[in-house]
Amino acid sequence: MTNHKITVSLADRSYPVLVGSGVAKDVEKFLPITAKRAVIVTQENIPFEIKLSLPHTTVLIGNGEQFKSLQTIDIISQQFAKFGLTRSDVVIGVGGGMVTDVAGFAAASWHRGTAVVQIPTTLVGMVDAAIGGKTGVNIAQGKNLVGAFWQPSAVLCDIDALKTLPDRETRCGLGEVAKYHFLAGDDLLALELSARIARCVEIKATIVSADEREQGGRAVLNYGHTLAHALERSSDFALAHGEAVAIGMIFAAHLAHSLQRIDDARLAYHYKVIRDSYGLGVSIPDKFDRRALIDLMRLDKKAIDGLTFVLDGTNGVEIVSDIGEKYLDQAFDAMQLP
Ligand code: GLY
Repeated sequence: MTNHKITVSLADRSYPVLVGSGVAKDVEKFLPITAKRAVIVTQENIPFEIKLSLPHTTVLIGNGEQFKSLQTIDIISQQFAKFGLTRSDVVIGVGGGMVTDVAGFAAASWHRGTAVVQIPTTLVGMVDAAIGGKTGVNIAQGKNLVGAFWQPSAVLCDIDALKTLPDRETRCGLGEVAKYHFLAGDDLLALELSARIARCVEIKATIVSADEREQGGRAVLNYGHTLAHALERSSDFALAHGEAVAIGMIFAAHLAHSLQRIDDARLAYHYKVIRDSYGLGVSIPDKFDRRALIDLMRLDKKAIDGLTFVLDGTNGVEIVSDIGEKYLDQAFDAMQLP
C-alpha cells in the first residue's frame, strides 16, 4: 500500500503530513533535532503505542469533551514541569481530535511555544483536527474559545490506528470527509482509504496555506459547523461532532435554498451525498429547541455581523453574514423541527 506525503506550505513553518500504514513507526525522524526528551499526551483508551528511544514520559488526559478544558492544560503543564520539558524538547499528541487540540494548545503555551508532533488516531483527527494548527480548549461559554494557532512540526496519519476505530467514530470522520466533497467536488468515496485521507489533507492544506489564521477563505472549513456546534452544546455533546456536521450541512443547504443561493437539484444533491452515499443521519432530533439553537448560533466565532453561515451557492461554498432569522425558521421548517 502506498504512503502519501502532503506538505502544509507555510514558509519556514511548513510541515509534512504522512498518510499510510505504519507511518507512526518513524516518529523519531520527525522530531526536532533539538529535542532531548518528549512528553506523549494521550488517553488511556487509545490502543496505539508509540516507541521512542529518547527519554520520555506519558501524560494521560480524561476521556470526554468535559476534559477539553483549561484544568486539563494545567494538569499537563504541571507534568511538563515535573519532567523538566524545555522549549527545545517536543510534545507528541496521540489520539483523536480532542487529544491533538489539547496537546497542541499545551505545547503552544509551554514556555511560550514548544514543538508538537501530532499522531491522530481517528478519521476526524486525520482529515481535519490535527491538520492546520488550530489548538484549544472549551470554556462554559463555548467550544474552542481559548486557544492558539500553533502549527505542528509533522503530522503522522497511521491508518493502522483506524483498524480498531468504533463504527460511530468512523461515521463521525465520514461527516468531515463529506464536507470536503462539497468544498472540492471530488468523489472521495471512490478512493481507497489512504488516498481518501491524503486527498482530504491536501484539500485542507491548500486552504490553510492560503489563509492560516482564518481571515477569509479558511472559514469554508466550517461548512455545516454553525448548527453543528449548537447541536453539540445543546445535547451536552451526546451528539458527536461528525454526526452534528452532517446534519449541519443539510441545514446549511436548506438555508442556502431559502436564500435562493442554490436550486432544488443542489439541495437534493446534499441528501444524495450525505445520507445516501455516506450513510449519515440528516434529521434534527425532536428534542432540540430551535430558539435555543438560534441563540447558540449567535455565539458562533464567525458571527461578527449577525447570524453568519458558510453556505453553498453559485460561487461555491462561502461565508454569508447577517442572515435574517426568518430564513433560519424556513430551514428548520423544511427539516421538520417544531
Ligand atoms: N476545523 C476547521 C479548521 O481547521 O479551520
